[in-house]
Amino acid sequence: METVIVRGGKPLYGTVTADGSKNAVLPLLFATLLTDGVSVFRGVPKIGDVEVSLRILSAFGAESEWIAPGVLRIDASNVREALPNASDVSSLRAATYLIGATYARFGRAKLMPYGGCAFCSRPIDLHLLACRAFGGRLTDDGEIRGVLRPGYVNFPAVSVGATVNALFMAALSPGESFIRRPAREPHVMSLVRYLRLAGATVSVTSEGMLVRGEKLHGAEMTVIPDMIEAGTYLLAGLTTGGKVTVKTDVSHFSAFFTTLFRMGADLRIGEGEVTAVGGKPLSFGSLKTAPYPGFPTDLHPPTVPLFAVNAGGDVSETVFPSRFGYLSALSEFGVRYAGEEPSFRIYPSKLHPAEVTAPDLRGGVAAVLTALAAEGESRIHGATLIHRGYAGLTSKLRSLGADVTEE
Ligand code: EPZ
Repeated sequence: METVIVRGGKPLYGTVTADGSKNAVLPLLFATLLTDGVSVFRGVPKIGDVEVSLRILSAFGAESEWIAPGVLRIDASNVREALPNASDVSSLRAATYLIGATYARFGRAKLMPYGGCAFCSRPIDLHLLACRAFGGRLTDDGEIRGVLRPGYVNFPAVSVGATVNALFMAALSPGESFIRRPAREPHVMSLVRYLRLAGATVSVTSEGMLVRGEKLHGAEMTVIPDMIEAGTYLLAGLTTGGKVTVKTDVSHFSAFFTTLFRMGADLRIGEGEVTAVGGKPLSFGSLKTAPYPGFPTDLHPPTVPLFAVNAGGDVSETVFPSRFGYLSALSEFGVRYAGEEPSFRIYPSKLHPAEVTAPDLRGGVAAVLTALAAEGESRIHGATLIHRGYAGLTSKLRSLGADVTEE
């Protein structure tokens, strides 16, 4: 299904449940390469990035099987060194997790062109810095090689992916390792929980993460709810002037809720659910993305339509400073903006339907939210990019009363 067709202008009403988190499940899947047993994950979202990850794992001999809806069993008993399919690796940013996983497991990692949303350059220098700390050296033929040893990693900047790789290497290193300035996103903490269940000792302090490595076995875990997906549906409720309840883990949100409250949004936070009640005009908004617990960069594009249908707002990107390519797609719907990277101002805008191509995952879903608020029929092509991160997007939107189809 390549094109999402939205007949917008209808407020959305109802309740949806957030699926398992994309950015939480991907590190868990790659972490199984560190183990020599069976892991079972519950609440796994049926999204494109999971499918590609499982194909990559199977190249290494890790056998996966859906044993019930949303329940994935991965048997890593026969994991062996391998070279995965280059086109799978180049379509997935999480394939960078192979750097830490294969170096930790086999003492060797082949660097490859890694994929993911192409909204800006995605360097791997921090991943390589972590490898060096654990004894890995970059060879002239593009491999990390060495003998895994405990490491002290002092990250100069916060990176989710490099923290995941450092945790992978630390978890298999025989001895104590320390990771200074790690990412602390809920999805990183869920990896910490998995590594503990699999046999590693990990203490998290304000200074960093202290890890005692071990031979790891498989473990069972439930994937945490996707805070970005949950936030997206709350925004859909507010942007269309409806009332949407999302069942999720409310403790994962902080700066996102604060931003909406400051605009005067009516958010009702309960036990395991949040309700966004739209319909009244909101004041000028302001968001500045930052590593957790700051405003999540992945919720920046979906928040822009809310700014546009209200009094406008300022967006400042500190995580991916050039993540603004999607604004030209939103301008097709009448969204007005000005500025330059890393900060743009969104002006109050009169929306109309449009036909656009999803520029990337979150920019694509921002286009869908804009289309939902614009009266008339819009088409968003390239929806495969959106399905990489949103399980059942159109059926969930339909359950909220949206007139959305796909072809
Ligand atoms: C993860 O990407 C997520 N991807 C992204 O999700 C998310 O936007 C991002 O973290 C930030 O939260 C997955 O989990 C698969 P980073 P990652 O390393 O790990 C710079 C989505 O839409 N950096 O934390 O690649 C980097 O350029 C997406 O779901 C270096 O300079 O992000 C960026 O400015 C897209 N050198 C900043 O750090 C490096 O070696 C943070 O990136 C690595 C990163």
